Amino acid sequence: MASVLGVMETTAEVTVPKDPFERIIGQDHAVSVVRSAVMQRRHVLLCGAPGIGKSLLAEAAYTLLPKPREEIRLRHDPSRPDRPRVVVIRLDDDQGQRENASAPPDSTYIRPEEMPFEVASKMGYRCPKCGSFSSPSQSTCVDCGSPKRCDWLGDGSYHGLFRALDVVGERALMSVTCRENVDNIMHQVEYRRAGHDLIQVFRGLEKNSPLAAALIENEEHVLVSLGSPRFIRVTGANEVELLGDVKHDPYGSADALGVPAYRRVVPGAIHEAHEGLLYVDEIAALGSHQKHLLTAMQDRKYPITGHNPQSSGAAVRVDDVPCDFLLFASCNPEDLPSILPPLRSRIRGYGYEIMLSTFMPKTTENVSKTVQFIAQTVEQDGRIPHLTASSVESILRISEDFAYRLDGQRGALTLRLRELGGLVRIAGDLAVRDQEEFVLPEHVKQAESLFDGIGGLDTQTAHPNSARYADEFGSYFL
Ligand SMILES: Nc1ncnc2c1ncn2[C@@H]1O[C@H](COP(=O)(O)OP(=O)(O)OP(=O)(O)O)[C@@H](O)[C@H]1O
Ligand SMILES: [Mg+2]
Repeated sequence: MASVLGVMETTAEVTVPKDPFERIIGQDHAVSVVRSAVMQRRHVLLCGAPGIGKSLLAEAAYTLLPKPREEIRLRHDPSRPDRPRVVVIRLDDDQGQRENASAPPDSTYIRPEEMPFEVASKMGYRCPKCGSFSSPSQSTCVDCGSPKRCDWLGDGSYHGLFRALDVVGERALMSVTCRENVDNIMHQVEYRRAGHDLIQVFRGLEKNSPLAAALIENEEHVLVSLGSPRFIRVTGANEVELLGDVKHDPYGSADALGVPAYRRVVPGAIHEAHEGLLYVDEIAALGSHQKHLLTAMQDRKYPITGHNPQSSGAAVRVDDVPCDFLLFASCNPEDLPSILPPLRSRIRGYGYEIMLSTFMPKTTENVSKTVQFIAQTVEQDGRIPHLTASSVESILRISEDFAYRLDGQRGALTLRLRELGGLVRIAGDLAVRDQEEFVLPEHVKQAESLFDGIGGLDTQTAHPNSARYADEFGSYFL
């Protein structure tokens, strides 16, 4: 074995790759299919025993996805408070600006040049003296050098009806609210900065309500923010977690008392994964909820409603909330029949089913990969020392033993690496206890008996006939 390990003295000498795909060992076929699946935006079902890299593959796949470009917001609808409307704000890469993909009818986007002169100067876009345009971040005019007005709060000069406020929201936005005469009807108009060079305009019939109430009516609640992580993991059959919910409020949507409905809406995992990756662990455990997942995948939008019929949230409904995600699902081979046939067929039709192996032949290359895995485990743990070459040999022997005991394979190395990693960590802890600089073979030996003692090798998950699975299902898998 020393020849296989070459001149290596300890695992500290092993170079551990940074690329998440290169850190996945022994699943080369799955790695290459997953890479192309992500490029083509295809769904993936990862099938295999526990602890062989299904989650790792999904996490690595996520790193290949482009950054999200859409933010999902909810907007209060004064005429139907229990039916908040969806507003999608889209970041346009080319211009670095935001545009509205599904603007409600009374909201439009304009450029600073299109604003009334006084509004533009109060929002810092125009010099009040010479009228030339510049960015609000510049405090003096680029043309005439006079100071631009930034202290517009409270100053009312636009037909004597100006008011300007910091809008209360997730973050402070600069806005100016004023009254305008449109076709002889007074409207309340709010100009809000919506991007570097873009203004969102809300126009509504003026109400007798105080300005604050009018602003609340116009307010949006960010449901899925542009910067939120879009790798979303779902485990277990929780309908609320998957589809979202509306929180209860003892005052319901009663004006001025309770929290308005649009602020009580909670996104589901399917919405949080919009433009990202939804990883459903043990998809068969979703049971009857699989049909909702299927609908969401087909429609790429799914409503959010309150799920508890006793709660005031049950009266609230938001239609057409976007949920255009890439599905990565995992399952054990024996759970394949519990996957809803139309869902499985959709994944097959629009994606891939991949069977992961639980062992690999013991070749020189695969020995090196297992050594890389050991070094990775040490590095990732951060609290255990590296292993000497003879300790690595012991681990390789145990790896062979696992492949035989769990998968009936001789001359193979195990890919049930969560188990093998656990053993490396126990051996490492023993070396720390003995204040050794490296993990020695005796630590590995003790770790092995401790590991077996605490039931570390879970023979329940073993598939002694794993070759049978390959025969039975192999034809379906790539
Ligand atoms: N192929 C692999 N390459 C490198 N490390 C692996 C591999 N498989 C498993 N591991 C190690 O085992 C740990 C668990 O792996 P992972 O979470 O991907 O397993 P899983 O297949 O998703 O298991 P489960 O079905 O229980 O969710 C990883 O954090 C990693 O340390
Ligand atoms: Mg997992």
